[in-house]
Amino acid sequence: MRTLISRQLDDYTEQHTSAEMPVLARLNRETNLKRGDAVMLSGHLQGSFLQMISHMIQPRCILEIGTFTGYSAICLAQGLQEGGRLHTIEIDEELHDMAAAYVSEAGLNEKIMLHTGSAIDIIPSLDESFDIVFIDADKSNYERYYDLVFDKVPVGGYIIADNVLYDGEVVLPEDQQTKNARAITSFNRKIKADKRIEHVLVPLRDGIMVARKIRD
Ligand SMILES: C[S@@+](CC[C@H](N)C(=O)[O-])C[C@H]1O[C@@H](n2cnc3c(N)ncnc32)[C@H](O)[C@@H]1O
Repeated sequence: MRTLISRQLDDYTEQHTSAEMPVLARLNRETNLKRGDAVMLSGHLQGSFLQMISHMIQPRCILEIGTFTGYSAICLAQGLQEGGRLHTIEIDEELHDMAAAYVSEAGLNEKIMLHTGSAIDIIPSLDESFDIVFIDADKSNYERYYDLVFDKVPVGGYIIADNVLYDGEVVLPEDQQTKNARAITSFNRKIKADKRIEHVLVPLRDGIMVARKIRD
């Protein structure tokens, strides 16, 4: 019964969220048709949430770590200020052409910079200040990404991280968690202990941590 109600509530939630932009619906569909790992894509509800957050913040510059096929990058780019830009990093070069095609179809060639390579190498080479950083790549490096980007975010800027509930595993004893869940548990502990930020864990989809930097 709980499962039925929660599925009905998921449907209701999506139905009462603005419709997916046609370009995103096509990208969602093609990703699901072509990729066995399509579950990684943010999807309509989370994408709409990211888009809304971006519109509220009106960022000048965004960094995304983990492009995949470009869904969340296109969502986040919607709230950029005039002349603003979004850098997104993806290690899998096979994903580049699909992401680039949809960025182009969305009319965002001038705003979205696609970087191919390891985020660990690329982040230090980006000489920018980021009003939003969205961490959505390999879980074992979340803490490292957080440390690498922290000084690139101004006071008042945001660091957002996906999958912080890790399919509910974060509430299990750590010796029963997978390696990735342990990495996320450690990341969440680090966020909780960091007095330089305010943060809220939003239980949307797989959990989104939204942290606002309040001091250097
Ligand atoms: C969850 S997916 C990103 C989903 C995307 N943000 C979206 O919402 O549509 C994670 C991506 O991070 C990439 N990735 C993994 N390790 C990486 C690394 N070290 N540097 C850059 N990208 C990495 C993976 O190849 C994968 O495409």
